[in-house]
Amino acid sequence: MNSKDQKVIISTFEKEVCEGLTAFPKYLSSKYFYDEAGDKLFQQIMALPEYYLTRAEFEIFQTHKLDIAHSFDNDKEGFDLIELGAGDGKKTKILLKELGDHNYDFTYVPIDISQNAVEGLVNDLSVEMPDVSVNGQIGEYFEVLDRLKHISDRKKVVMVLGSNIGNLLHPRAIQFMQKLCHAMNPGDLIFMGFDQKKHPQKVLDAYNDQTGVTAAFNKNVLARINRELDGNFDLDKFLHWETYDPESGTAKSYLVSKEKHTVDIDALSLQVHFEAWESIHTEISQKYDDDTVKWLAEESGLRIVQSFTDKDEYYKDYLLTVV
Ligand code: AVJ
Repeated sequence: MNSKDQKVIISTFEKEVCEGLTAFPKYLSSKYFYDEAGDKLFQQIMALPEYYLTRAEFEIFQTHKLDIAHSFDNDKEGFDLIELGAGDGKKTKILLKELGDHNYDFTYVPIDISQNAVEGLVNDLSVEMPDVSVNGQIGEYFEVLDRLKHISDRKKVVMVLGSNIGNLLHPRAIQFMQKLCHAMNPGDLIFMGFDQKKHPQKVLDAYNDQTGVTAAFNKNVLARINRELDGNFDLDKFLHWETYDPESGTAKSYLVSKEKHTVDIDALSLQVHFEAWESIHTEISQKYDDDTVKWLAEESGLRIVQSFTDKDEYYKDYLLTVV
């Protein structure tokens, strides 16, 4: 085998970076924000005064934990509580404690693609709540959901918190919810967080904080290309730019090149040219209202049973059932 043949297997990251940066207009997927550095920056984002989402959902859990627990299993038949994208489980712990205190019969199944996140959470819980039955799973959401369908025949409650669905435009959000639906049975439940439409300035501020943490988070995708694909992006040549369209409820993040220049990505043997003020679209963070969530649910084979909100009504968690 000569050296030319060796590099046939290219990762999805390599493929998508190449596709996105040779497209017009340029784009990169927000899923690539989350390497080790990106995870740390996102933790900092969640603590920002401007980033209201995490606090609002935390407040919902604290205020409504009794009702939420009851809505998951009102006849106490027992269930599997599956969390997609579990992260550090800060909000979920409130609920786990509530369920434990009221002797619900359940197994908590946190699922994440990050082995670190799952192992950390499972260890934490074994110390903090030794009585809670935990079955951590590492993997892609749907692959693991498929596995679960065969492992347990108990009722399933699937949680997707943090308005993570907001990274998907409506057609892909419907696709995601439909797939979720197919991995479940009639009567199973989905508990999902949707950030709500609100004063446009409030949204813009949440994604354009004073201290520049969000800018660093956005630019981390370029830093990651530098680290993993031998790129030479100069992060100072780019500007973090946020827009919010109150009609569609779509917040969009961009990286804008401040000058005409060329970047080399050696691992891809790629040169990327930027005109002055040319953009790379990196993320969407969709905002919702009741009618939109109702429409998404109907399109996906789901029905809204109930919703829970914070005192400012910035954010809502919806309980959906598979029809
Ligand atoms: C984790 C996708 C919910 O869109 O609000 C935070 C990610 N991006 N600040 C969001 C994010 C910039 C976040 N989600």
